Amino acid sequence: MATEKKMTTTSIRKKKELGQPITMITAYDYPSAKLVEEAGVDMILVGDSLGMAVLGYDSTIPVTMEEMLHHTKAVTRAAKRSFVVADLPFLSYHKSEEEAVGNAGRLMQEGLAKAVKMEGGSELAPIVKRCVLAGIPVVGHIGLTPQAVHQLGGYKIQGRDLAQAKKLLSDAIALQEAGAFALVLECVPEEVARQIAKALEIPVIGIGAGAACDGQVLVFHDVLGYASQITPSFVKQYANVGTTIREAVAAYIREVEARAFPGAEHVFHASEETIKHLYKEGAGEQ
Ligand code: KIV
Repeated sequence: MATEKKMTTTSIRKKKELGQPITMITAYDYPSAKLVEEAGVDMILVGDSLGMAVLGYDSTIPVTMEEMLHHTKAVTRAAKRSFVVADLPFLSYHKSEEEAVGNAGRLMQEGLAKAVKMEGGSELAPIVKRCVLAGIPVVGHIGLTPQAVHQLGGYKIQGRDLAQAKKLLSDAIALQEAGAFALVLECVPEEVARQIAKALEIPVIGIGAGAACDGQVLVFHDVLGYASQITPSFVKQYANVGTTIREAVAAYIREVEARAFPGAEHVFHASEETIKHLYKEGAGEQ
């Protein structure tokens, strides 16, 4: 189990300085947040992967601000020590700096998140700067940015050639200079991720970006084998709760159908007096 001390932007940064890996996992509701916090995770991401993992959309694009707020509120009710970051959903931070600050502010003020995450490179620097000026801690997200899936032509590895790798590095530096306090790097070759983590002072948290990052993030449902729509090859599945749930529910169905549930220990009883009158009256009425 990790320390009981509350995680902050300072303690997260300190972990990078000390060379201690930062742990992050997604959660989307009260029980998942409670369990990952009890397990000792440093950071919880209320990712817009919510759309695919929980709401059954086929991408993150349909996720709305209201959905993000609803789930962020549930997560922050449970997470008292872990540092909660909430995703700004598709098009909630591009139309104007005012709208970006307004929506980021809602995730903090109403959702009680400690920081927001947004997808994009150097083009996003003015928006990051504006949020940071307003006192909003920002996590950047580059590499495979799922909100741009249709522009990228699918969920593909990014930064494989030199030009792309250099662009990722300059995007990372631009986001750090704009004031982002951490960066998520998704689906890039390990060698590129290593260079970016080395070049930045802020922590780089990888997902499908190899072991040289300052921390790792994965999606709750992928880690647990909990009915994920797709499980990318970079995921390690640590449990198979999907099978456990299916088997438990099938056993429940079998027992109800066989009248084996409820058993004697699950039943309430009326008092002798009530039973006597109830049956007598019942009999009298017949
Ligand atoms: O939405 C999400 O869960 C994410 C992670 C995949 C980093 O952005």
